Amino acid sequence: MKNRKTPRYMTAAECPQAGHERMMMPQPINQPDPYGLSPEPALLQRMRETGAVFMMGQNPDLPVLPAKPKLLDFFHYRFCDIAYMHLLQSAKLALDAGQNETVVTACLLHDISNGALLRSDHGYWGAQMIAPYVSEEVAWAVQQHQALRYFADEAAGFKYPDAYNSFFGPDYQPPEYLQHAHREARKHRWYMTSRLVTIYDIYSFQDGWDVDPEQFTDIIGRNFREPEEGLGFDNSPVAHMWRTMIWPHNFL
Ligand SMILES: [Fe+2]
Ligand SMILES: [Fe+2]
Repeated sequence: MKNRKTPRYMTAAECPQAGHERMMMPQPINQPDPYGLSPEPALLQRMRETGAVFMMGQNPDLPVLPAKPKLLDFFHYRFCDIAYMHLLQSAKLALDAGQNETVVTACLLHDISNGALLRSDHGYWGAQMIAPYVSEEVAWAVQQHQALRYFADEAAGFKYPDAYNSFFGPDYQPPEYLQHAHREARKHRWYMTSRLVTIYDIYSFQDGWDVDPEQFTDIIGRNFREPEEGLGFDNSPVAHMWRTMIWPHNFL
């Protein structure tokens, strides 16, 4: 991907827990076996037998982030390629269509949780992660796009996505909490902001369409309050979410 910055990896000298094998414990939400066969006992045994330790801090297989990471650092160094491309393409479509910066910012951030944190209930997680740094309207639009994606509004130019018939099966019905969220959102004064997010939320993932994230620098500057200490280190109520993306494999 042309515009992605070249990652820097830690040198051996920088490696935390030097001299030890560092074991990775899967996060409980992502246990390989949902029926309770946790790898923890085997890993604890390995620890006792070999002196291996559990991963804490920087994972050498992940790019190093700057000490005071900013929003685009997470795009460059943490988000998977699909999320990186999808968010940038979505924001670029909104920008080219002449949408205002609130809509462009919401498009740029709408699936931020899918980038490197959690997919399940991603609109809610995403809205929470960004809430201290964006306007209430942007956070609201990000949260509500999750529900609005399931409900057509052809007058506004949004059809139920064909992809959802493939992803979930043609009989899929969203759960009641999303149906409720949709009904409430329809009556809300910011409905169209979130609806526009769903309209520019395309699944074509156009390969070869490299959107340069730096073109959003000014819009981010005006619409996303980067904390001076860096995301993850500002003691905000959501700092832990950003730290979890920086060190996603911490044992605790
Ligand atoms: Fe989404
Ligand atoms: Fe999306």
